[in-house]
Formats: sequence, C-alpha cells, structure tokens
Amino acid sequence: MDGYSFALIIHLFSAVFFIGFVFSDVVILPVLNKDFDLKTVQQIKESIFSRGRKVMPLAVLTLILSGGFMFSKYINTSLGFTGSSLQILLLIKFALAMIIVSGIIYSLICKIRKKQPHNVMKKFHTYVLILGIIIIILAKVMFIA
Ligand code: HEM
Repeated sequence: MDGYSFALIIHLFSAVFFIGFVFSDVVILPVLNKDFDLKTVQQIKESIFSRGRKVMPLAVLTLILSGGFMFSKYINTSLGFTGSSLQILLLIKFALAMIIVSGIIYSLICKIRKKQPHNVMKKFHTYVLILGIIIIILAKVMFIA
C-alpha cells in the first residue's frame, strides 16, 4: 500500500469517528430530554463530552494531517493553486474544515480558561454536522466536477 492510500484510509476513519460523534450529539442524544430531567441530561452529556474532549482532538489531528498530506498531491507549487475545479473545490473543503478546527480550538481555550463561550457556540455541533456533510459531498464532487 502506498502512502497516499494509507493516508486516505486514516482520513476516512478519522472523518467517520469525528462526524459520527457530532451526529450522535445532534441527532441521537436529544432523545435523553424525553426520559430524563434537564439536570440529569446535563450530567450524562458532561460525562460523554469529557471522553469526547480526550478522544476527538486526536481524531481531528489525524483528519487534518492525513488531509494535508493528500492535499499536497493536488495543490502545490508545480501544479498551482486554483487552476482546476478540483483545486478550487478542495480549497473550499479545506476552508470549511478550518472553520470547524477554529471552533474546536476556541471552545477548548474557553474550557481551559473556564470562560463562557459565545452564544453562537451553543449550536456548534449542529453547524459542524452541516459543514461536515458539505465537506463530505465536496470530497466526492471535486473529482467529478
Ligand atoms: C471535518 C473535516 C474533514 C472531513 C469530514 C473530511 C472528509 C473526507 C471524506 C469523507 C473524504 C472522501 C474519502 C474517500 O473517498 O474515501 C475526503 C477526502 C479528501 N480530503 Fe477530507 N475531510 C476533512 C478535512 C480535510 C482537510 C483539512 C483536508 C486538507 C488539508 C482534506 C483533504 C482531503 C483530500 C485531498 C481528499 C481526497 C482523497 C481522495 O479521495 O483521494 N480533508 N475527506
């Protein structure tokens, strides 16, 4: 197996773990509100997220590193940056991923400094899920367009 195929498999696994986690929070876990009171739901979620904060940064890191490695095959000084639709869609994919990464770094900093994050972060996982779906579509469309 060559380096690119290896990076692709790592990238795919990381994306599945990362988007899967966000998907559970946005789509599955809200069911807790039906069976438990608000305080208990917050305790359950806090317990799940304390594990998430340990595991997810690693998934995001491998996602970015494997993505960056593959990125350099399509966008580099000899091939140029915006000369083809593949490159443009890949740059859009990269920019959307960086929005997610900035949000993660921001919320980790808030957690470390024990500061309340901005109100927009209340729906952060919903935005991440929407961005993630667009990113996945871009990842496939960029090779067809
Ligand atoms: C939330 C972040 C991201 C998600 C959910 C994501 C998801 C995906 C998915 C599902 C694929 C298709 C893999 C396949 O066809 O088997 C893919 C491909 C790709 N991604 Fe990402 N990605 C993310 C971030 C990034 C970043 C930051 C970069 C660049 C620095 C990147 C570069 C690439 C490249 C170059 C491919 C094409 C691989 C190929 O099919 O040969 N990705 N990504």
